[in-house]
Amino acid sequence: MIALNAFLKPPGEYLAAWRHPDGPADGGVNIAHVRALVERAERARFDAVFLADLVGVPLADADVLSRVSVVNDSFEPTTLLAALSAVTSHIGLIATASTTYNEPYHLARTFASLDHLSGGRAGWNLVTSLNDGEARNFGLDAHVPHAERYARAEEFVDVVRGLWAGVDDGALTRHQGHPVIVQAGASEAGKALASRVADVIFTHHGEVAAAQGFRAEIRERARAHGRDPDHVKVLPALSTITGRTRAEAEDKAARMRELLHPRVALEDLGYWLGGVDLTPYPLDGPLPDLPLSNQSRSTQARVLDRARAEGLTIRQLARQVADDDRTLVGTGTEIADHIEEFVRAGAADGFNVIFPYLPGTLEDFADLVVPELQRRGLHRTEYTGRTLREHLGLPRPRSGYATARETP
Ligand SMILES: Cc1cc2nc3c(=O)[nH]c(=O)nc-3n(C[C@H](O)[C@H](O)[C@H](O)COP(=O)(O)O)c2cc1C
Repeated sequence: MIALNAFLKPPGEYLAAWRHPDGPADGGVNIAHVRALVERAERARFDAVFLADLVGVPLADADVLSRVSVVNDSFEPTTLLAALSAVTSHIGLIATASTTYNEPYHLARTFASLDHLSGGRAGWNLVTSLNDGEARNFGLDAHVPHAERYARAEEFVDVVRGLWAGVDDGALTRHQGHPVIVQAGASEAGKALASRVADVIFTHHGEVAAAQGFRAEIRERARAHGRDPDHVKVLPALSTITGRTRAEAEDKAARMRELLHPRVALEDLGYWLGGVDLTPYPLDGPLPDLPLSNQSRSTQARVLDRARAEGLTIRQLARQVADDDRTLVGTGTEIADHIEEFVRAGAADGFNVIFPYLPGTLEDFADLVVPELQRRGLHRTEYTGRTLREHLGLPRPRSGYATARETP
C-alpha cells in the first residue's frame, strides 16, 4: 500500500484556478467548498489532507495580488482543520506551521490539541518560512538567514517532541497525542533535519532516478540516526489532470492555462527566483544575473538550471514555471502507471497529490486514478486504522520516561 496525501490549496494550485468556471472564485475562504473537498478525499481513502501556509502575503504588487488566489484569501490551517475534524472520521489532517515565527510551546499545544480533537489524525508540516513579507509581519526587515533558521528549527522540534513525550504512557487517562511530523527540506540543512525527525518527507522530485537517489539518501541518513528507514515516508509531489481519454485530459489542461494573466506569471517567476523584481528587464531577453536566494535555494537552482539548459527568455520561462509542465496530463491508467513505476523503483513511498484546479482535478483523480490503484492493490479500499500513524504504518513514539527506563 502506498501513502496518498491530498495537497489541498483551494481553489487549486494553478495561479489562475480561481477563475475556473467549474469552481467557486472564493474557494480559499468558502468552508462549504473546502468541506466537500475533504469529504471527497476521505471517500477516496486518502491518508491525509495537507494545507500549506505562509505567515504573510508573498506578493507586493496590488495589480498582481488582485489576479491571484494565494494567502490573501485562505483560512489559517490549524483552525480550519479543527473545524474539518468534526465533519470527518478517518482522514489525516496536516497543517503547516513555522519554526521561525512561533515558539515551541505554542505549536506543541496547538498540534496536541488538534490531535486530541481529531482522534489522533493531526500532522505538523514543519517549515522555516520563506520570504521577507513573512519577516515583516514579525517586526523584522528581512527573512532570517537560511542556516540560522534551520539551526533554530533543529532545537525547536526537539522542544516540541520533548513536550509531547513528557507524560509517561498510562500516567493520565486523558493522554496527550503525538502528531505526525512532516518536513520538505531539500537543502543540505533541510535534509539533515528531515532525516532526523520527519515521519513524512515531501519532495519535488519528478524524475524516477532523482527521486530514487533522494529517497536512498534520506533512508541512509535516517538509519545513521538509529531510525528504521521504513518509518520515514518519502512522498514526491504529483500534480495531475486526469481525463477519460488523453485528448480529454489535454483539453482540460489547455482550458485551464488560458485563464492565466501574463503579469501574474512574471511576478510568480520573480518569487521563485528569490523575490526578484523582473519588470525592469526585457521580457524577450534572458534572465539577469541574480543573487543567491534566501528563500528556497533548491527551487531557485532548479528554475535557473532550466532557463540555462533550454536557453529560455524571461517570457518563456515565466510561462513554463506557471504552467508547471511537470503536471501529468493523461488517463487514470497512465497516471496509475507513473505511480506504480515510482513505487516499484523504490523512488517513493507514496505521493503528495497536487490539484491544479478544484474540485475538478480531485474528482477526476478520485474517479479515475484511485480505482485503478485499488485494482492493482496499491491503495486501500477501506481504512483499516483510525489514526494518521495507523494509516501510514508508523509506530507511536514512546514517552521520555519509557525511553529512559530502557536506557541502562
Ligand atoms: C510539497 C511542499 C510543500 C511545502 N509547503 C510549504 C509551506 O506550506 N510553507 C512554507 O513556508 N514552505 C513550504 N515548503 C517549502 C519547504 O519548507 C522548504 O523550504 C523547501 O522545500 C526548500 O527546502 P530548503 O529550504 O531546505 O532549501 C514546501 C515544500 C514542498 C516540497
